[in-house]
Amino acid sequence: MSVLKIALTKGRLEKKTLAVLKKMGLDCSELESGSRKLIYKIPNYPLEIVLAKAADVITYVEHGVCDLGVVGKDTIMENGNSFYEMLDLGFGKCRFALATKVEDDFYSGCKTRRIATKYPKVAREYFAKKGMDVDIIKIEGSVELAPLLGIADAIVDIVETGTTMKENGLHPIEDIHPISARLIVNIASMKLYKEEIFDFLKKLEDNLED
Ligand code: PRP
Repeated sequence: MSVLKIALTKGRLEKKTLAVLKKMGLDCSELESGSRKLIYKIPNYPLEIVLAKAADVITYVEHGVCDLGVVGKDTIMENGNSFYEMLDLGFGKCRFALATKVEDDFYSGCKTRRIATKYPKVAREYFAKKGMDVDIIKIEGSVELAPLLGIADAIVDIVETGTTMKENGLHPIEDIHPISARLIVNIASMKLYKEEIFDFLKKLEDNLED
């Protein structure tokens, strides 16, 4: 039997993904031992786990060095290209939203709006659909700062609980897209290891929360 390689997104999604793998009966004890290793062999299932940053999960799956990946829909929308998106795992739920300072009226006036975001493609596509010309400013993190510092009129960012926006005097004015964790599969792997992959997907699906 072939050993499948799965790339998991480190951080927010990692714990929730491991919880499902454990529910499937996979021995993940080494992963939970606090080790700094990045590749783990699962002793009781033909699977190797690779821990990576979200955008790199997509790179590894697209290049076929990993057969499977778990990554957020946000990263897929910004960086995804060619792979199969097979399952909505139902956790890591949040949304993309357009947000402004509470006191601002985003649509008043006629000057070109400046939008700060970690997700320039998502923002560009959203405003293109509206037929609205905007300038996009790429920010690497804590995007909420951009309107506060006066570099942008609004942000396109992830809202989960809404606390970060609230505590910084911002509020979402439009929802752009719902987000959750997805299971992705390399296109060639799907042909080569169809049986193993479908077997894994079935077990995974059976152990997801409703
Ligand atoms: C994300 C997002 C918001 C925050 C939203 O940032 O960019 O800042 O989480 O969560 P909330 O609605 O529950 O407050 P992340 O923590 O990934 O850090 P970053 O901004 O440094 O990228």
